[in-house]
Amino acid sequence: MRITTKLTLIISCLLIVLFMTLAWTSYRHDQALALQETVDKARTIARQIVEIREYLSSVVRVEQVEQNTGLTPQVAATRIALRLTQDSPYYVRQVSLRYRNPQNQPDAYERETLLQFKGSQLKERFQVVGDGSNKALRYLLPMVADQSCLTCHGSFEQAPRFVQQRFPKGHPSYNYQAGELIGAISVSVPLSTLQQTILKNMRRELLLEGVIVLLLVVVTGWLIHRTILSPVAKVAEGIETAANSGNFSSPIVAANNDEIGRLVTSFNELMAELERRTRQRHESDERYRNFIEIAQSPIVTFLPDGKIVITNQKAEKLFGISKDELLGQSIFDFFSDPTALREGISDYFHAGSSALIGTTSRQTVRDICGRLFEVEVVISVSQTDQEAMFTAILRTGKEPQ
Ligand code: HEC
Repeated sequence: MRITTKLTLIISCLLIVLFMTLAWTSYRHDQALALQETVDKARTIARQIVEIREYLSSVVRVEQVEQNTGLTPQVAATRIALRLTQDSPYYVRQVSLRYRNPQNQPDAYERETLLQFKGSQLKERFQVVGDGSNKALRYLLPMVADQSCLTCHGSFEQAPRFVQQRFPKGHPSYNYQAGELIGAISVSVPLSTLQQTILKNMRRELLLEGVIVLLLVVVTGWLIHRTILSPVAKVAEGIETAANSGNFSSPIVAANNDEIGRLVTSFNELMAELERRTRQRHESDERYRNFIEIAQSPIVTFLPDGKIVITNQKAEKLFGISKDELLGQSIFDFFSDPTALREGISDYFHAGSSALIGTTSRQTVRDICGRLFEVEVVISVSQTDQEAMFTAILRTGKEPQ
């Protein structure tokens, strides 16, 4: 995998994790906020209804209610609540454990809450109940009877006739005391719509974040490629070309003075040094060749395996073969008995020295036509950085024809 791909993948993963975490956090936050708002609204509605009921109870006279039952605090408050919550997901009821109207019978949750209110000073209770699409917020505000309520909720004997007629003596809805819990306003809100709104918002947010992630990945990928990878690739290319061609003379241009710029500078210096050394070696080789060319004796430089690498004009003449043909041939082939030469070289490698080197010995060599010549041979050795090279200077009694 290319570095650009790897880096892009790593950056993408990091960004995706980051944005997912952010999205999740903001989703949770939105949810908490929306729930808080719903509770606040439910509380406001419930309080309004309590106020309406208490106000009506304190101002409306029994005769008025008798003429128009719509003025009964419970009835009026229920109708106003209905109007208030029209077209909203809020559903309001007024419930009591000792109800008069069966419609005001508490459900299981309301009953449990009313019993809780009865035994404590609890000011309100709210809770998210149900699960999945049936999730709902339940809010209950307790209602306490005051003196004005007792007109109709006190003893049977005191109650107005229309109440007595509807609810006979012994009905559980009588005999409340002032300060006693009489019922509760119950608000419920299904949370599915709320949830849907939040989810819709989140989807939009995620989409936006996805686009941002994509843009960030593209831009950072491009920047990394431009500022790091492309200069590095250029350096690598330069090294490759130099290594393949052996030409170290063209320096690589660094775009910046950063770490990569320094790397390029060092590389250029290294290349310049290599170039200088190569040139020096060529020059010294050249000097050596020129030197042996003008020498009066045949000279042959060969490798330990006998392969001839440098030779001169006199050697060409001696062996009767052109320089180009001579190069690459084995020196041993031109000795009528190369044993001594072979052993001398072998001694040099195994014992570190050899009697052959530096001393003059008489040998018989043969030219390309098979003619034999007596020669005096002096072998010298030079150790280059790679391997040893041997140079044989051959002195002939007479000029070969
Ligand atoms: C004028 C008489 C009257 C007064 C005053 C009165 N109520 Fe009622 N109340 C009624 C009647 C009648 C009902 C039954 C209404 C119905 O049919 O829905 C009722 C119902 C209720 C209910 C619903 C539960 C049930 O029994 O069906 C509650 C709770 C309630 N009253 C609380 C109060 C409180 C609190 C006050 C004082 C702030 C109050 N009432 C004042 C006559 C009265």
